[in-house]
Amino acid sequence: MEWWKKSIVYQIYPMSFKDSDGDGTGDIGGIIEKVDYLKELGVDVIWLTPVYESPMDDNGYDISNYYRINPLFGTMEQLEELLEKLHDRRMKLIMDLVVNHTSDEHEWFKAARADKNSKYHDYYIWKDSPVTDQQSFFSGSVWEYNEETNEYYYHLFSKRQPDLNWSNREVREEVYKLINWWLDKGIDGFRMDVIDLIGKIPEESVMVSEKSHTYLQEMYRNCFAGRDVFTVGETPFSTPETAPLYSAKERRELSMVFGFEHLGLDEIRGNGKWDLKKMEVNELKRVFETWQKALHEKGWNSLFWSNHDQPRIVSRIGNDTVYRKESAKMLAMILHGMQGTPYIYQGEEIGMTNVRFPLEDYRDIETINMVKEKQEAGWSMEKIMEGIYAKARDNARTPIQWDDSEHAGFTDGTPWLKVNPNYKEINVKRTLQETDSIFAFYQKLIQIRKEYDVITTGDFELLCGEDERIFAYVRRSGNEKLYVIANFTDKMVDCGNCSSLSFMEGECLLGNYEPEKGKDNLLLRPYECRMYAVGF
Ligand code: NOJ
Repeated sequence: MEWWKKSIVYQIYPMSFKDSDGDGTGDIGGIIEKVDYLKELGVDVIWLTPVYESPMDDNGYDISNYYRINPLFGTMEQLEELLEKLHDRRMKLIMDLVVNHTSDEHEWFKAARADKNSKYHDYYIWKDSPVTDQQSFFSGSVWEYNEETNEYYYHLFSKRQPDLNWSNREVREEVYKLINWWLDKGIDGFRMDVIDLIGKIPEESVMVSEKSHTYLQEMYRNCFAGRDVFTVGETPFSTPETAPLYSAKERRELSMVFGFEHLGLDEIRGNGKWDLKKMEVNELKRVFETWQKALHEKGWNSLFWSNHDQPRIVSRIGNDTVYRKESAKMLAMILHGMQGTPYIYQGEEIGMTNVRFPLEDYRDIETINMVKEKQEAGWSMEKIMEGIYAKARDNARTPIQWDDSEHAGFTDGTPWLKVNPNYKEINVKRTLQETDSIFAFYQKLIQIRKEYDVITTGDFELLCGEDERIFAYVRRSGNEKLYVIANFTDKMVDCGNCSSLSFMEGECLLGNYEPEKGKDNLLLRPYECRMYAVGF
């Protein structure tokens, strides 16, 4: 079995992880300080979001040089040191590959925008006029006027992130070159930013096409064939039908994909992420069920609740006040019991929560642009702020709360984004002193995944599918069964009526409450979760 099927990945957003030089921004030196913390958690792979040279219009997802490290984050020597330290501990490092677009400060774009006759002009997408009324993900038209050439260029994200023209073979060759350069350095793979979009058809506002697959197969042949590395595609447009196409081994495209359907259930469909609706547990269950089944023996899933673009999961669908610890553990168990490679986003392992800052304290370009756009569209400030509290990406980007000292021990300087005021209560130091911590629970989940192959290989069946208070399923491989049952409410729930839960004889491997002897076994306490093994 491929090593990455048994691995657990930990995502680091370096700006907010740990600052080692007092400038208020996290850096590679800070990550090096914390390698043993990550080892203790038990993760196998670190995914580092972009640390390349960048003007930081989108916090590094706007790259101006793929071969250099942004001095804000440190030096190439430090990156090499980090890689070595991880490898010494039998851990791996994957980097972010952002090649749907570059920064407008990349040399290619500078040449492209200055001169129509430059060979770099065709590295980007140009039209004489805006040929569609498509809106960019960060508000405003995807077409931006360029005075020097009297044309419009295409950008799906900020106007400082021009999209590369993937139909140009030279562009693709440049990308393969940089991928190979990094792989030759010894890194263990890539997370690929919005990689399904490389096959878009801008003239038709079509976001993915057969070309997404053609280019990925070409990339595989040029970069990954014969190397023991792994690749995960951020594929926001993937569906249960297309996810196997990206991730089936024999298609030689990607090792696995990130599908987002489960994280789109708390928005009004078609209105974008800021128009909120309550997530229905039964919808969530159905989405997971569909993806688990669609990819079983046909492709490979990534399992994730959080990343640097998503709000904190315990605030989003758990309970971040009275039952913060219980619900954080429950959500972790639900995810880690499924088939796929689990991802832990920094801070999730201590149950970090969303924030409610005054508007001026938000830093994210997506939020800032959105406020302007929604105000113009007549939204009340109250509705806008509700959207921000629930969905702003800065919820996930507040600095990691290491201890209860000033700025949560993240920096000696002034943090680039404010620390969540709850850091005195929620921090790593305190968590590590508790025996029943969320951190310890993640450690156990990781151990169980290593020990029970059924989690990696077994099939998936949803149980009590109609009961909106419960999320339960069974994983099966031969006679071996692994059950996960969780109460998604803050009330006691009696599961006695659910006939498919007649398994309670099995060994309880893990739960988020002390087992209560003598009590009715099917009575679940608020956000209680349990994992049972039967037939081992
Ligand atoms: C997805 C990344 O995760 C996000 O942070 C970024 O803004 C966009 N892609 C554009 O690169």
